[in-house]
Amino acid sequence: DAGHYDNGGYEHYLLKEISEQPDTVARTLRGRIDDRFHIAHLGGLNMDARETRSFRRVKIIGCGSAYYSGQIGAQLIEELARIPADAEPASEFRYRSPVVEPDTLYVAISQSGETYDTLAAVQELKRKGGRVLGIVNTVGSAIARETDGGIYLHAGPEVSVASTKAFTSTAVAFALLALHLGRVRDLSPADGRRICDGLRRLPEQIKEILTLEDQIRELAKKYADAPGMMFVGRVRGYPVAREGAQKLKEISYVHAEAYPASELKHGPLALISPELPTVAVVPDDELLDKNLTTLGEIRARHGRILMVGHRTSEAADDCIVVPRNEVELDPILLTIPLQLFAYHAAVALGRDVDRPRNLAKSVTVE
Ligand code: AGP
Repeated sequence: DAGHYDNGGYEHYLLKEISEQPDTVARTLRGRIDDRFHIAHLGGLNMDARETRSFRRVKIIGCGSAYYSGQIGAQLIEELARIPADAEPASEFRYRSPVVEPDTLYVAISQSGETYDTLAAVQELKRKGGRVLGIVNTVGSAIARETDGGIYLHAGPEVSVASTKAFTSTAVAFALLALHLGRVRDLSPADGRRICDGLRRLPEQIKEILTLEDQIRELAKKYADAPGMMFVGRVRGYPVAREGAQKLKEISYVHAEAYPASELKHGPLALISPELPTVAVVPDDELLDKNLTTLGEIRARHGRILMVGHRTSEAADDCIVVPRNEVELDPILLTIPLQLFAYHAAVALGRDVDRPRNLAKSVTVE
């Protein structure tokens, strides 16, 4: 309940929680990076090395933003640990009678630890002998108790209905889990070190992104009167686009759709017009050229483009440039300007930012 926590002088809890992220990410990382062996210490997993090496697949479940952070997590695990991984909404998973495999590691994500759909999915998994970890913020919550072990986010209470700091810390927790799984498999010490160093840079880089707030406020005002927005990203950028669209619709009530940039030409390109601006998540990774080509295709249909990435581009009308980290970790940083964008769009439209209509902080019913 918002009444129990201090808003720290911020106008909204949401802005407070966005602004806290240098600290909350530092807390998620604290004591968990080993600079000697370039590994992660995750004692809460309750798994020995033999078991850690035994999984052939990782299945991640969560709802809403937790699910989108799980998509970032799945990509991190595949890239760093080379274990096939995917994320699915917990709500769908529990209804479709999933095959529960003994060599699959299941990971349930929840800020509150009380989301009924996620809890029911965990209980179903346990009933069928699945090994389930939790990535949870609220200590002692139902999902934390039901899982076999896990990672606490230590992000502190999240009051605003729209998740921000928990999303970011979940992605950071997945980077630690991917490092942990990777370093008992094929991930080299050099790559382990690269990821450890990248993780350590995150809090300072988040501070840098927060200094872009004035620019982002102006951009939010400029785009907030559009009847809808398209969010696109490729591979690492796609879950970022999904979360960016989710934030915008939740708190500003502006219709937002997220698509893989590669899928635009298979249908949604028909929607592109000056009335439907696009937010394009374009990291400097191996897909940069492909993404810039997509921006050209949007431009040719007179679509306005706000690009979020690591450089400016003539192909976009506006650009938000964030600091670069390691390519695997960049999605964590690229999400933050989209949180500020949604926040300032909601403020510009006079919305009830912390208590958006029709939503509850945690959905504890079916
Ligand atoms: C986030 O902005 C949403 N309000 C919502 O999608 C939320 O992430 C979801 O309901 C899951 O909540 P949980 O993390 O507490 O399980």
